[in-house]
Amino acid sequence: MKLSSVQRVGDEGVRGEHEVGPVADLPAGAVVGAGGYAVGNIDGGLFAVSRRCRHLGADLANGTLDEHGHLVCPWHQSA
Ligand code: FES
Repeated sequence: MKLSSVQRVGDEGVRGEHEVGPVADLPAGAVVGAGGYAVGNIDGGLFAVSRRCRHLGADLANGTLDEHGHLVCPWHQSA
């Protein structure tokens, strides 16, 4: 399986793609940045969310995954 890009899908359909890299570079528990997105791997399930925390704008690419698979913000630990 390859993870070569993240596609943003809005009401109008696909808006753009961001290169992420091979899925081998995204092991379980990892979170990385790809353009405006934080991309992660929860036990083999891949996700992409907006990179800026909605609280005060921390970079969620620097976040961590907790034991429940929630992305935890690096600044104030919101999940
Ligand atoms: S900036 Fe993310 S919880 Fe505050």
